[in-house]
Amino acid sequence: MDLNNAELQERLAPRSIRYIPQVESTNDIALVWLSEGAPQGSAVIADEQTHGRGRLGRIWHTTSDTALIVSVILRPRADHLYQITMLGALAICELVEYLGAVEVGIKWPNDVLLRGKKVSGVLPEAVWSGTQLSGVVLGMGVNVRVDFMGTELEDRAVSIETVLGRSLNRADLLQILLERVDFWAAQLGNSSLFTAWENRLLTLGQRVRVQASDGERLGLAQSVDPEGALFLKTDDGAVHRILAGDIALGNVS
Ligand code: BTN
Repeated sequence: MDLNNAELQERLAPRSIRYIPQVESTNDIALVWLSEGAPQGSAVIADEQTHGRGRLGRIWHTTSDTALIVSVILRPRADHLYQITMLGALAICELVEYLGAVEVGIKWPNDVLLRGKKVSGVLPEAVWSGTQLSGVVLGMGVNVRVDFMGTELEDRAVSIETVLGRSLNRADLLQILLERVDFWAAQLGNSSLFTAWENRLLTLGQRVRVQASDGERLGLAQSVDPEGALFLKTDDGAVHRILAGDIALGNVS
């Protein structure tokens, strides 16, 4: 097993971390810790997650010894909140590329794809005290050695080890990932963060199907704006600004 508390505490010092082998959701633990005053950069790490949350109410279940499951506490300014999703996806892209993988990019808004399949997801959750932002928990799940072969996700999800064909140490990966999170957290509010995210988007110029809260739309993904919204041109010529949703890439007629 490549994760244990003593090693993580030593490798990630002086960062405050809580390593809990089995959790329901690292985001839940981090949300409580945030409210108790955890400093910027504190991280909750788990080996196994039994009730993990994904975007749009989905489940993100993770068995032992297969993935990175981490939630980082950040204390951004409220007007930088929309960049947290970009930050997480970028940090993960850089981790995967650092390991030697190619064909890494972002499916709007924040799915990291490796060779066209999802290797990671990001779930930011904010905590407010009235109108004041207390902080945000940036939850990240990265498939390191999840075996999708023969599962219903086989065509859509992938693990880093499967693509690279070698074993990885999750403590190494966490160290790199958290360094990249720190780097981009220091750029919050800076246009370089938006530009780096935009440049990694695989979605632009593609015909896509977008599922948003007000329904489904088909069209050309034209551009994004600094708040992370997608501009979709539908076949009737209208351009829709979509702030949150989910898209399908490819095979869209
Ligand atoms: C997605 O739907 O793509 C986002 C998935 C985010 C999963 C991570 S795993 C660590 C953290 N804890 C959770 O419960 N969810 C996030």
